[in-house]
Amino acid sequence: MALSSADREMVRALWKKLGDNVGVYVTEALERTFLAFPSTKTYFPHLDLSRGSVQVKDHGQKVGDALTLAVHNLDNLPGALSALSDLHAHQLRVDPVNFQLLGHCLLVTLARNYPGDFSPAMQASLDKFLSLVTSALASRHL
Ligand code: HEM
Repeated sequence: MALSSADREMVRALWKKLGDNVGVYVTEALERTFLAFPSTKTYFPHLDLSRGSVQVKDHGQKVGDALTLAVHNLDNLPGALSALSDLHAHQLRVDPVNFQLLGHCLLVTLARNYPGDFSPAMQASLDKFLSLVTSALASRHL
């Protein structure tokens, strides 16, 4: 399931619009994930996960930067996310199903904040992009 050139344009156009706010929306998506799917919180026993927490904001910024890197490397997502794949599989041992939960919450977050941009075609392209990010991140899981 490769990204078509239309998918790439959709994802790049939305990312351009997000500008410096990617971390803000990923933070909102993380807060949603922790509320909607509480089992995801078990991976972060060392962080304060309450709403508005600075630690969640900092983490959201890091995840957002990684997603921006992915958008800049649509031709080589496995390469761009290789170190993060190692980290999540071997060190953090994150069950890959959690990537889908966060991806789902990110789609909901973006749809809420950019309703005018969120056509069905945009949804389909973003969903493909997030699925490819998930595959790349999960590629080291046995
Ligand atoms: C789009 C999917 C995801 C991306 C791009 C991503 C990216 C990242 C990044 C960039 C870091 C920081 C790495 C560093 O400091 O060197 C990180 C750490 C981490 N990630 Fe992910 N992540 C994703 C999904 C998840 C999910 C779904 C979970 C678990 C539910 C998770 C659990 C963790 C944990 C526990 C850490 C370490 C946090 C800490 O050091 O305090 N990640 N992730």
